[in-house]
Amino acid sequence: FPVENIRNFSIVAHVDHGKSTLADRLLELTGTIDKTKNNKQVLDKLQVERERGITVKAQTASLFYNCEGKQYLLNLIDTPGHVDFSYEVSRSLSACQGVLLVVDANEGIQAQTVANFFLAFEAQLSVIPVINKIDLKNADPERVENQIEKVFDIPSDECIKISAKLGTNVESVLQAIIERIPPGVIANVALFDGVVSKGDKIVSAHTQKTYEVNEVGVLNPNEQPTHKLYAGQVGYLIAGMKDVTEAQIGDTLCLHKQPVEPLPGFKSAKPMVFAGMYPLDQSEYNNLKSAIEKLTLNDSSVTVHRDSSLALGAGWRLGFLGLLHMEVFNQRLEQEYNASVILTTPTVPYKAVLSSSKLIKEHREKEITIINPAQFPDKSKVTEYLEPVVLGTIITPDEYTGKIMMLCEARRAVQKNMIFIDQNRVMLKYLFPLNEIVVDFYDSLKSLSSGYASFDYEDAGYQTAELVKMDILLNGNTVEELVTVVHKDKAHSIGKAICERLKDSLPRQLFEIAIQAAIGSKIIARETVKAYRKNVLAKCYGGDITRKMKLLKRQAEGKKKLRKIGNVEVPKDAFIKVLKTQ
Ligand code: GTP
Repeated sequence: FPVENIRNFSIVAHVDHGKSTLADRLLELTGTIDKTKNNKQVLDKLQVERERGITVKAQTASLFYNCEGKQYLLNLIDTPGHVDFSYEVSRSLSACQGVLLVVDANEGIQAQTVANFFLAFEAQLSVIPVINKIDLKNADPERVENQIEKVFDIPSDECIKISAKLGTNVESVLQAIIERIPPGVIANVALFDGVVSKGDKIVSAHTQKTYEVNEVGVLNPNEQPTHKLYAGQVGYLIAGMKDVTEAQIGDTLCLHKQPVEPLPGFKSAKPMVFAGMYPLDQSEYNNLKSAIEKLTLNDSSVTVHRDSSLALGAGWRLGFLGLLHMEVFNQRLEQEYNASVILTTPTVPYKAVLSSSKLIKEHREKEITIINPAQFPDKSKVTEYLEPVVLGTIITPDEYTGKIMMLCEARRAVQKNMIFIDQNRVMLKYLFPLNEIVVDFYDSLKSLSSGYASFDYEDAGYQTAELVKMDILLNGNTVEELVTVVHKDKAHSIGKAICERLKDSLPRQLFEIAIQAAIGSKIIARETVKAYRKNVLAKCYGGDITRKMKLLKRQAEGKKKLRKIGNVEVPKDAFIKVLKTQ
């Protein structure tokens, strides 16, 4: 295929707006898949994807389309729909020149529509807005056209109105791909050293394939060919890469016969949510280990460190891109590898700026990242603590705005913007501390808006925060696995909640147990478990010694599963109830 007959595009959409259905129609129309067979949503493969109706790993399909006597190769590059996977999204988008932005004609622009548009916009791609589901009774495509014009500044007459389900007008989507998306595999490059010009032979460090350079140029912002590209310049390069997967983001290209060390990738996935993972039963450790290894093989964005807990045994501390990413990983372990795991409450990577002058003298990093509360440095050694923040976008019917604003404020969020995107829909932007949304923010938002509000977020760096380390004590002894880092203002309510959960799951013992939450030596919450004597021998009236022995033995076995903290025995189960998500 000549480069001018190749189009590389992606479909992006908010969840359920019809991305997969449109992809199916395009595949059918171009004869890539057979209409009669029941191969709905061929691009979605994993079970977790089918169940949750989301895409996690990107796939590619090639479509052949004849138009005005010319044959075109349309490469449909699948992208995950959710921001947790925005690393995958930007990697997929880097291989495209355009996107179809699918918007539901009834629901209109939602938070992920906005996030996806800006990813495409930043990658300088052509955006073709497609308003889907016009067959629905409540469809209001004109309203959605106006939203698109208002929020994205795309003239409303550029919107294509379709029903992916019925196939209405889908042909004009193919037409628009040919007309509005620029052709070919065009790799955006930054030149670090030397010169590259037309005719040079280059090698990809990633694939080891050799190419001849057909064209180089600068982005102005459209491609403008030049004779050469020099070190320090940023531009584009066309080199007969037939398949877009050959142009990988972060790949290093060098001149043939002048090999160099590959440069480090431009953008590496950065985990933002950490959680402990343990086998439910330690005998499952090795199985779980190999399952985690296999899963991380094709999801390199998960970071894995070995960890161990006195209560839960040997396990790992895993880092994920976001909450959904974590849930999906967990679900895949369970479904594809039959693993039963304990996943602890997620935490975020805090930072501390150390004040010790000795460290500065030694030119050591002054700033440290804390992913495990046990490593939290004492306030006396620290000039400031920092917490990760995200910029959240919420789109909601106006009637819920008041309640949502209250929810956001309770989560320490700061409002950045609020606009009406049409007569009764509001778009709110808030800066959120990430740790305030990692546990149940999304659920709260959904329930107080009867499911109508949508939410999405992007990384927004770090901000100063008053963080404290909170200990949980049983009769005065610290429970190591329950140490947490919390914001000063939230310590009381979180401490109280943990104490209450522990109280509910600790069995009574021969003496009273004080459960306390403490910051340093200051107690901020307390619950008490009353004394109780569990006399296993009560049922044996004298005589039968073997029966007594049996009962005593059984009680002793039960104790093996307990962990002793001071004089208090804590069953593993109690830890699981307190540590587990939800
Ligand atoms: P994610 O993979 O979760 O991002 O979803 P998606 O965007 O791929 O949506 P999908 O194609 O799975 O469609 C979601 C739902 O909308 C399905 O129940 C489809 O049958 C339905 N749907 C898609 N297109 C249309 C349409 O044109 N009209 C109607 N009425 N329903 C549609």
